[in-house]
Amino acid sequence: MPDERDEVPGTGSSAVGDAGGGVSETEIAVHWQEEEYYEPPASFVAQANLTDPQVYERFSLEHFPDYYTEFADLLDWSKRWDTVLDSSNPPFWRWFVGGELNASYNCIDRHLEQAKNKTALYFVPEPEDEPIEAITYQELFVRVNEFAAYLRDGIGMQRGDRVTVHMPMVSQLAVTMLACARLGVIHSVVFGGFSARACADRIVDSGSSVLITMDGYWRDGKWIDHKEKADQAVEMARQDGRAISSVLIWRRNRGSYGSSFGLVEGRDVVVDDVIGQYRGQRVEPEAMRSEDTLFLMYTSGSTGKPKAAQHSTGGYLSYVTAMSKLILDIKPTDVYWCMADIGWITGHSFIVYGPLALGASSIIYEGSPTYPDPGRPWRLAERLDVNIFHTSPTAIRALRKVGAEEPTKYHYNFKLMVTVGEPIEPDVWRWYYNVVGRRNAAVVDTWWQTENGGFLCSTVPALKPMKPGSAGPGVPGIHPVIYDEDGNEVPAGTGKGGNICIRNPWPGSMLGIWGDPDRYVATYYARYCKDPGSKAWRDWPYFAGDGAMLAKDGYFRILGRIDDVINVAGHRLGTKEIEAAALKVAGVAEAAVVAAHDEVKGVVPEVFVTLLPGVVPSEEFGTQVVDSVVREIGPIARPRKVWLVPDLPKTRSGKIMRRVLASISNRGDIGDVTSLANPEIVEQIQGMVQS
Ligand code: WT7
Repeated sequence: MPDERDEVPGTGSSAVGDAGGGVSETEIAVHWQEEEYYEPPASFVAQANLTDPQVYERFSLEHFPDYYTEFADLLDWSKRWDTVLDSSNPPFWRWFVGGELNASYNCIDRHLEQAKNKTALYFVPEPEDEPIEAITYQELFVRVNEFAAYLRDGIGMQRGDRVTVHMPMVSQLAVTMLACARLGVIHSVVFGGFSARACADRIVDSGSSVLITMDGYWRDGKWIDHKEKADQAVEMARQDGRAISSVLIWRRNRGSYGSSFGLVEGRDVVVDDVIGQYRGQRVEPEAMRSEDTLFLMYTSGSTGKPKAAQHSTGGYLSYVTAMSKLILDIKPTDVYWCMADIGWITGHSFIVYGPLALGASSIIYEGSPTYPDPGRPWRLAERLDVNIFHTSPTAIRALRKVGAEEPTKYHYNFKLMVTVGEPIEPDVWRWYYNVVGRRNAAVVDTWWQTENGGFLCSTVPALKPMKPGSAGPGVPGIHPVIYDEDGNEVPAGTGKGGNICIRNPWPGSMLGIWGDPDRYVATYYARYCKDPGSKAWRDWPYFAGDGAMLAKDGYFRILGRIDDVINVAGHRLGTKEIEAAALKVAGVAEAAVVAAHDEVKGVVPEVFVTLLPGVVPSEEFGTQVVDSVVREIGPIARPRKVWLVPDLPKTRSGKIMRRVLASISNRGDIGDVTSLANPEIVEQIQGMVQS
């Protein structure tokens, strides 16, 4: 399958809500047993960045918000801030106000004096016979400056403009982001595997006039012609009222254009045809205000329309730099590989901004983790002597499934390993720790979200033991709490689930939802705010939308999403978006999407559809629904199965009972359905699905 980037590491989980497995949080809690601790290896502790147990005391709420100056002090500011936190307009937090800095300067320029010859980025092409490219900090400086000069002088881009970037995993993507940051241009990177439709929606919402893309790339041994999506996205955006004036196309292979879709006169420019005109040019980094927007990152919510988390320059960069140092334990001498895609927040924070701000060497791998064989990641780790490795439960499950013994065949030495994106099953965790990490690496399970910029819960690797399946306590500075439906605090150790919230603001938190302040307040802060008129930050807990359980030891176990969002391959997809795509198929009357459990991917969408009266059911509908979902959203959302059913189970008020459908798909307990408007349909569907 040509563009199957749904296999991308990043990757499935258990939703707890309506679309989920039909099990309540409390029931899950009852079935789970406490796991035993694993101590971090002594060799790790001996070299760790953070070994001071006092850190939790220093970062107690009593010292809020001043403790966060420790994070901001990791950066170079052209002007120091005067206010650590401006919380005068809750919940719109502004960090390090009065301060000025530039993200590109912090990730590149400031390392030149000491480390210009050090590798900043390794680009690892998917084809193994193509050489790996090591880009030094000096070389990155040159490329970023030249591209920034072109954006500014050739295209006329200015601070505050938005640009949509739809690119694969290549070094030019990082160069593009850093060039934008240098100019104060707000980048909105759209995951390369997303469809033209998804790209167009993001162009329109962000108000971009420029699209940056690439001709093509390698994925699973196949050349993907990517430029086609740019042509389609520009046309779709035009129909929706947004004109793209320039499409800038990087070439995957310098000097040879790899797309069968030609250049549109007056609109399209091949970057490496024109960049020569800017050779040797330097662009002074713009002094950005701390609270200026660095980038937009789209994510799914419970309504169909994707929303962009708007991340700040000073707060965000301070936060990801601190997390990279304290939790990922990155040092300038480390070689760090995060397998996520830069098109997700994990890649922004932990391939590009965090590791580069610390002057480390970060790897950008173009392709699929199992190409050409399941040994690829471990071979790459050996070859580049990677010592910090970052991936997701889906990728771990997939790698275990196809090659449980593969890691033992290669010589690499991880000091730390990361898991992110969804809850990890304790068994899968143990394989990661024992086989991939050879019991010689600390493992951190980092719980956070697109909106947060960086980690919320994780153990500090040298200070706290690991517990499989649990993310751990709040990271230093983060004070999580679990509330029940009525806003009462659920104490530790009850075995009861609830809604995890964060008591305090933090610098990595988004500035807002781009263009939609009301949705920002409604989605994240209205739920547990008792007094909307209050100006005190304490009255505005952040509502994450995940179910969680707090054990006696203060470790949080995340249960999954509680809204109509399913976590596929570690990334949130709105069930309504998928349903909307299904409804585009002529003849389809209703659609319901549920999260079906999958051994490797964790969770995949399954679709139940009914047809309009008089329409004759046929296999075709299944194919058409799948095609429509892939076209509208991308292969990541590809349904595993489409069921044509005579009717959908509904409440008397007409609400589709996705929970019941999910239980059928997952062969779970359906519970009492007698109060439904049409209980008889449940058995019929069960017969179809479970036979
Ligand atoms: C949702 C956020 C930010 C990372 C990539 C996903 C789930 C994330 C964990 C974890 C259990 C996790 C949550 C969260 N999640 N990390 N370590 N353990 N669940 O970003 O697309 O914004 O999704 O991913 O459900 O709300 P995202």
